[in-house]
Amino acid sequence: MTQANVAPALRIRGLSKTYKNGVEALKGIDLDVPEGEFFGLLGPNGAGKSTTIGVVTSLINRSGGAIEVFGVDTEQDLEGAKRLIGVVPQELNINQFEQPLQIVAQQAGYYGVPWREARERAGECLRWMGLWDKRGVMARSLSGGMKRRLMIARALVHGPRLLILDEPTAGVDIEIRRATWDLLQEINAAGTTIILTTHYLEEAEALCRRIAIIDGGCIVQDTDTRSLLAQLAIETFVLDPHEPLAAAPPIDGYEARLRDDGSFEVEVARSSSINELFSALDGAGIQVRSMRNKANRLEELFLRLVDNAGGDGVVS
Ligand SMILES: Nc1ncnc2c1ncn2[C@@H]1O[C@H](COP(=O)(O)OP(=O)(O)O)[C@@H](O)[C@H]1O
Ligand SMILES: [Mg+2]
Repeated sequence: MTQANVAPALRIRGLSKTYKNGVEALKGIDLDVPEGEFFGLLGPNGAGKSTTIGVVTSLINRSGGAIEVFGVDTEQDLEGAKRLIGVVPQELNINQFEQPLQIVAQQAGYYGVPWREARERAGECLRWMGLWDKRGVMARSLSGGMKRRLMIARALVHGPRLLILDEPTAGVDIEIRRATWDLLQEINAAGTTIILTTHYLEEAEALCRRIAIIDGGCIVQDTDTRSLLAQLAIETFVLDPHEPLAAAPPIDGYEARLRDDGSFEVEVARSSSINELFSALDGAGIQVRSMRNKANRLEELFLRLVDNAGGDGVVS
């Protein structure tokens, strides 16, 4: 298996998925995730994140394309590829009437680990996830955060080299989110490659060294986190003048763009003071009635990416 040592943890080529209802959830995506990476697949709801995960883990049939996990082609050797992956799905899917130790050990059993060893490994994973004390209670009685950790323990029990989590902190409170982040960082530091999907820019920013942005079934950006955030160094404001304007006003130091309704937009570096903009507006003799942020940071980024793509509809 020397090939597997140099192969990326995940290699996706031309992956497409059209659901039976005709929805083109993936329009031919490429992704490379090197071993050891902490990788974020970031995108709004409906972008195709879960579909990507589903196809990679073979829960969803692809329409076209190729997937390799550490060099193992998932079509040629599905079982081999599956052994290398641990997955934490978006939806809670634990049997509420079983006990954590049982749930996790059973999972090891699915991978052919003998029962005694399965229980040992399950115990280790539960300890790691801070659930040892809860090993014998009904899963139903666990808190939301504990259930998530139980799903992570279950995903880790067969010693996967790649851990994939689908929106691990969607809908959980900030404290649990932080605790989950710490755990994931620990798991990654221990050598496991991690891919997570999220629609929170903050989450991707806090955890991931590399981020791919998916929207409308297309990867619109795939870069290291630092370069991605550098693109957020600019903020767009929409300004409403007292009288609608017929042309973009000349403002010293800024480039204004006229909007259809006679308002205009300017881009402002985050590092600069907003007062500078106001004095420039003053200097240009423009009275502004109101001003707002054009979009939140993530939306802003998406808009920018579409603009950069020449508006040719990369983002749908
Ligand atoms: N089982 C399904 N049948 C038909 N359409 C689906 C199915 N699952 C998802 N979709 C559609 O595919 C697109 C991508 O969905 P999904 O991968 O779940 O996005 P995300 O996880 O990024 O929110 C959406 O338009 C969604 O409505
Ligand atoms: Mg999803």
